[in-house]
Amino acid sequence: MKNIVVFVSGSGSNLQSIINNIENGQISNVRIALVVADRKCYGLERAKNHQIPTKIVERGENFFKELYDVIPEDTSLIVLAGFLSILNSEFCKRWKGKIINIHPSLLPKFGGKGMWGHYVHDAVIAANEKESGATVHFVTTGIDEGEVILQGKVEVLDNETAKSLASKIIKIEHEIYPKAINYILNS
Ligand code: GRF
Repeated sequence: MKNIVVFVSGSGSNLQSIINNIENGQISNVRIALVVADRKCYGLERAKNHQIPTKIVERGENFFKELYDVIPEDTSLIVLAGFLSILNSEFCKRWKGKIINIHPSLLPKFGGKGMWGHYVHDAVIAANEKESGATVHFVTTGIDEGEVILQGKVEVLDNETAKSLASKIIKIEHEIYPKAINYILNS
């Protein structure tokens, strides 16, 4: 059994899809040892509903020290699932090659500082892109710059809005994130 730790800040729908895919066997030999949040959020409730241990580490002076301390040494993968705090370079180095993130665009397009939530989809529509999607990538110190692991695409229709695009892309996220986790840990 490999242990993963999932970091959340929000609704945790990706966390839910990871839990579901562990339970239905699409992700094998993996358990979520801990869910870490940087604030109170619905993601924590989802974890508790499945008897997964949770921990809140709030931003502040000792943020990274506390984060370090809560993560078990035997963690095989840290999965960022809508985590809104930026990890510092020391943390990224300590867990190099073992932190992944999902981003709602086809990186390297529409990534980097300020590119989150509806800002990503607004920018995609403003740029008249014909396709968008989601990207699972390794986390390095540069925001959204680590190696791409898996992408899923959707068509951007003529009458697309940021809202309609977001709802198509989140579905893709729920498909590719569990696949990527299974691929990284079982191949
Ligand atoms: C997703 O859109 C993901 O791409 C981004 O944060 C959002 C998290 O959503 N990194 P949820 O909390 O998993 O529902």
